[in-house]
Amino acid sequence: DGKGAIGETLLKWYDAHARVLPWRISPADRADGVRPDPYRVWLSEVMLQQTTVAAVRDYFRRFTERWPDVAALAAAEDGEVMAEWAGLGYYARARNLLKCARCVAGDLEGRFPSSAAELQTLPGIGPYTAAAIAAIAHDEPVAVVDGNVERVVSRLFAVETPLPGAKSELTALTARITPETRPGDFAQAMMDLGATICTPRNPACAICPLVGECSARAQGIAETLPRKAPK
Ligand code: ADE
Repeated sequence: DGKGAIGETLLKWYDAHARVLPWRISPADRADGVRPDPYRVWLSEVMLQQTTVAAVRDYFRRFTERWPDVAALAAAEDGEVMAEWAGLGYYARARNLLKCARCVAGDLEGRFPSSAAELQTLPGIGPYTAAAIAAIAHDEPVAVVDGNVERVVSRLFAVETPLPGAKSELTALTARITPETRPGDFAQAMMDLGATICTPRNPACAICPLVGECSARAQGIAETLPRKAPK
């Protein structure tokens, strides 16, 4: 069925083309069954919320070198963390980061909850971040929907409902194509596809692994999606 086709095709593409990023597991380690560390997934997802991959890379390296686990981060002084965050912007994220680290280190014996539902109860962890951590660190088959994924899915299914109203429809469609096997890699493959091929302008449909599955492409309307409600 369609679900299987999209998942399998995209995972095969990801195995060949995944971006090498400091919070990801190398393909060799992944094949050996190594799982991403929930602390590193959480930290990267909070940093990536309003910031590009290119800008986050070095911040992520410095943070994890200085504070390699959640207990180390929880023990840091507020001022040290704010200084290390300087330049990333949206400073409420850094304050919530510390609040969350201290909650996990203090109340949860240093272990992040594993389900998306429980993760959402922590400071600074909303539905997107909770889904991303549960999928990437624990392979929970939940829909992970950021701006890139909204664009990819709106095009795959030619959703012409404007955002933000289309959000729940796009989440349901993402859930429908999320595979039971490797949902975390699937989520990251969707993000990579949106960042590198299924771009807002001039999408590179000629090299897209999902071109044969894409309703918007078939109708010649890919670049016009997702639609946005006038402000
Ligand atoms: N943007 C947000 N999370 C990401 C991830 N895990 N990989 C690539 N881009 C992302």
